[in-house]
Amino acid sequence: MSKQQQLQETIDFLKKNGITNPEIGIVLGTGLGKLVDEIAIEKEIPYAEIPHFPQATVEFHSGKLIYGQLSGKKVVVMSGRFHLYEGYNAWEVTYGIRTFHGLGIQNLLISNAAGAINLNYKKGDLMLIEDHINLQGSSPLAFQGANAFGNIFVDLLEPYSKIINQKLKAIAIAQNIQLHEGVYASVLGPQLETRAEYRMLQILETDAVGMSTVPEVIVAKQLNLPCAAISVLTDECDPKNLQPVNIAEIIAIAGEAEPKMIALFKGVIEVL
Ligand code: HPA
Repeated sequence: MSKQQQLQETIDFLKKNGITNPEIGIVLGTGLGKLVDEIAIEKEIPYAEIPHFPQATVEFHSGKLIYGQLSGKKVVVMSGRFHLYEGYNAWEVTYGIRTFHGLGIQNLLISNAAGAINLNYKKGDLMLIEDHINLQGSSPLAFQGANAFGNIFVDLLEPYSKIINQKLKAIAIAQNIQLHEGVYASVLGPQLETRAEYRMLQILETDAVGMSTVPEVIVAKQLNLPCAAISVLTDECDPKNLQPVNIAEIIAIAGEAEPKMIALFKGVIEVL
């Protein structure tokens, strides 16, 4: 079965199961699942029950699609995303974005946990992604038949929607939430970076580093889907004072900063 047929079956299944006319798609990052508690949930479908949907592996991702009402809008949420470092290919990592698009969303919001490369940014802070550098060595558009899904020579002049970003910045000011802006570098992982790599990321003038988001954003661009992404900074990547990584701490910091991210997402959904 072709990729188009698979995707169509996925979309048809979800529509048949009541996921109809969502306006906004949301992808929740590691340790950032609590936005779901704010949704008036109408449908909740484990990935395992969705035809052709990749299956979640990492235990801190719950792995389900959630549909319901949030801030007066119909939203569909991926609670649990797929990473290249888990062994999924770039098609699988971005399958949810193509599914969201097929369901008819008009805007996409993404969150992730990331390390702070800009040392003026501290753990627990939020950063609005204004641009990215793809260091994953792969593209979600580099497969045979990709042009059946749209132009593959997608321009990335404005990968992150200026309109949504303006709204997020205004909401941050109004709610007194500190929101940095910066460049996100995506790496493959799952190992963390060496001192030399952190120095390189500084030289490249990146502000944060993580292992997700960029493939999803590239596919959103192919589909002309306006998107915005917020990083929750969970650790400070100071090559002069490198600390052992503690994944439990990263997840705990993400959880502590999460209410700020939830407030921004809820605020922006209201005005999109
Ligand atoms: N590097 C890569 N990914 C990350 C980091 C990091 O320091 N922190 C959270 N995700």
